[in-house]
Amino acid sequence: MIPAMTLRAFDPSALRDAVAALSAGSLVAFPTETVYGLGADAISDVAVAKIFAAKGRPQNNPLIVHVADLAMAEAYATFPETALILAARFWPGPMTLVLPCRPNAPLAPAVTAGLATVALRMPQHDIAQHLVRAFGRGIAAPSANRTGHVSATTAAHVANDLAPHIALVLDGGASPLGLESTILAVHANNNATLLRSGHITAANVKAVLSDTAASLIDTSPDTTDTPSAPGQFASHYAPNAAVRLNATTITPGDAVLAFGALDAMRGLETAQRIVNLSATGNLAEAAQQLFASLRLLDQDRPATIAVAPIPDHGIGRAINDRLRRAAAPRSPHAATKPRV
Ligand code: TXA
Ligand code: MG
Repeated sequence: MIPAMTLRAFDPSALRDAVAALSAGSLVAFPTETVYGLGADAISDVAVAKIFAAKGRPQNNPLIVHVADLAMAEAYATFPETALILAARFWPGPMTLVLPCRPNAPLAPAVTAGLATVALRMPQHDIAQHLVRAFGRGIAAPSANRTGHVSATTAAHVANDLAPHIALVLDGGASPLGLESTILAVHANNNATLLRSGHITAANVKAVLSDTAASLIDTSPDTTDTPSAPGQFASHYAPNAAVRLNATTITPGDAVLAFGALDAMRGLETAQRIVNLSATGNLAEAAQQLFASLRLLDQDRPATIAVAPIPDHGIGRAINDRLRRAAAPRSPHAATKPRV
């Protein structure tokens, strides 16, 4: 377990220690409105290398740089007009913009993995905002889980996955949204491409762009095995158990991830355990509960987690994206050792 000293409730002294740890090149985990991030000083080669080592992350998978405001963001990237419009509408919030990287951006090269673009996000969560503002420059932060595993939405999840590697975890309770940010690449010609679905949906983005000449290229990355973002591997977000989707009949011993009314599922009485993502069928609640529920069901070490059908509209699309990756055949990076 993580030494008690390093798991800290947020207060001015924890903030000071977090800034000092980042400045010293150590890793600090912090809550955002989406999931917890594993943060490092984005300009430091040594600090950023610790992120890749801690997560077991392939070097070709770039990181998101978290910023406090637009001025900070503009030190790293140029903003096509569409990006300014999207930032004005959705920042701070659960949206990451992949933009042309400035040639001499103050970033460790590993952050962008050698790409000509950089991913930027201005988080809305109070603790994340305070941290980036107090640090005064960009914090590179992927989700605070081991690569391939389920993302972390509580400080305890972070500790379970990464405790030995982290100087300090700022505990902000459960992440309020529960799914990673929507990722949009904005091109020099002002069109945008959806790289990862999230709370901000394609429809939300299209509504904002409808007043402009720009269009959203929605290549449905959620349904392809070809990664359009380098990290969008088919297998991801994986618990130890196998995952069976759209389950309406339960096999004895299954752990069950339910959604809405239970009467559509047969054989529930033979389930090892049942967790309902949202008894009322609310997709936002289901998104918030998804990763914690997968981790909880996995604790009993079931052979299979059977997942009820989830409607594929609105936030449901992002939920189904994560679930498809949880169910995909495990790639070598995703399943090297048992995870608890
Ligand atoms: O909500 C979130 O986005 C969380 C919180 C902590 O901010 N972060 C997060 O980071 O989900 P991560 O590393 O788990 O996922 C970021 C994704 C990866 O798939 C990565 O490949 C992609 O963003 N990415 C980063 N830079 C990119 C770039 N320049 N071009 C395309 N994709 C990029
Ligand atoms: Mg991740």
